[in-house]
Amino acid sequence: PGHLISAADLSRDDAVLILDTAEEMARVADRPIKKLPTLRGRTVVNLFFEDSTRTRISFEAAAKRLSADVINFSAKGSSVSKGESLKDTALTLEAMGADAVVIRHHASGAPYRLATSGWIDGVVVNAGDGTHEHPTQALLDAFTMRRRLIGPDAGLGQDLSGRRITIVGDVLHSRVARSNVHLLGTLGAEVTLVAPPTLVPVGVESWPCEVSYDLDQVLPKSDAVMMLRVQRERMNAAFFPTEREYARRYGLDGDRMARMPEHAVVMHPGPMNRGMEITAEVADSDRCTAVEQVANGVSIRMAVLYLLLGGSEPAVTNNATART
Ligand code: CP
Repeated sequence: PGHLISAADLSRDDAVLILDTAEEMARVADRPIKKLPTLRGRTVVNLFFEDSTRTRISFEAAAKRLSADVINFSAKGSSVSKGESLKDTALTLEAMGADAVVIRHHASGAPYRLATSGWIDGVVVNAGDGTHEHPTQALLDAFTMRRRLIGPDAGLGQDLSGRRITIVGDVLHSRVARSNVHLLGTLGAEVTLVAPPTLVPVGVESWPCEVSYDLDQVLPKSDAVMMLRVQRERMNAAFFPTEREYARRYGLDGDRMARMPEHAVVMHPGPMNRGMEITAEVADSDRCTAVEQVANGVSIRMAVLYLLLGGSEPAVTNNATART
């Protein structure tokens, strides 16, 4: 079966197909009955070795809206805390008949290992691995940008050619930034990273993007500005500026937001450090899409599960089918 391990693996046509399928799924959410029968009898396991609010809940909602059975596994409170390995955990899930395993893991490469090990037969979806990738986050971000910058209907079949996207903050530790840079490049967008020099990854020269250290200079030329969470749990304090210094140079407040073009949106994958990378004024403004991104995440994850598990009938046909 196919897997979704990395946004870098997606072709332009793959990515546009997922975005277009997610538009169909979003329309299901507007119906009185929000469920489709397409994955009835299939089992999706959410295997989370790291904390999550948005990704875990939205994969669960997505699988349930497609009528799949869902098993939620959290490493906390499981036999992982007694030292059980990823292999033995995977063999246990296989014995229970998992058709898809959605995995979040602190180790970069864990989803790839699961997909290529032969321990399980089902499809593997990466829900965030270490500092490597978070492909469904990048897909829901691209979906949000396409809806906001082009429109839900006008956007069908379209990529993000010529759109200027600025990604700001802790790029070094951000799997969201990595996945976005690759996917946005594939979709034709022009990406600029803005970060303190200590939070720019080695090897960024080979990424399909520009790097700047001057946020005020880049903002007026941005169609979307994505603020990243400062991941203090992953960093050595010695390399980090003080919170006040960080907010002053790289944080987005109302004055800075006013430098953006009127049509431009502010994005954040969540969870947010309010007062650090983004002020409450900006986070709660109409221009910030953080909550919309969460809602769009359900549509994207429905599309991914549907496309990977190969629903035996069209995802969306008519109201009668949706209600069976
Ligand atoms: N954006 C994101 O991945 O959030 P969670 O860690 O809450 O899933």
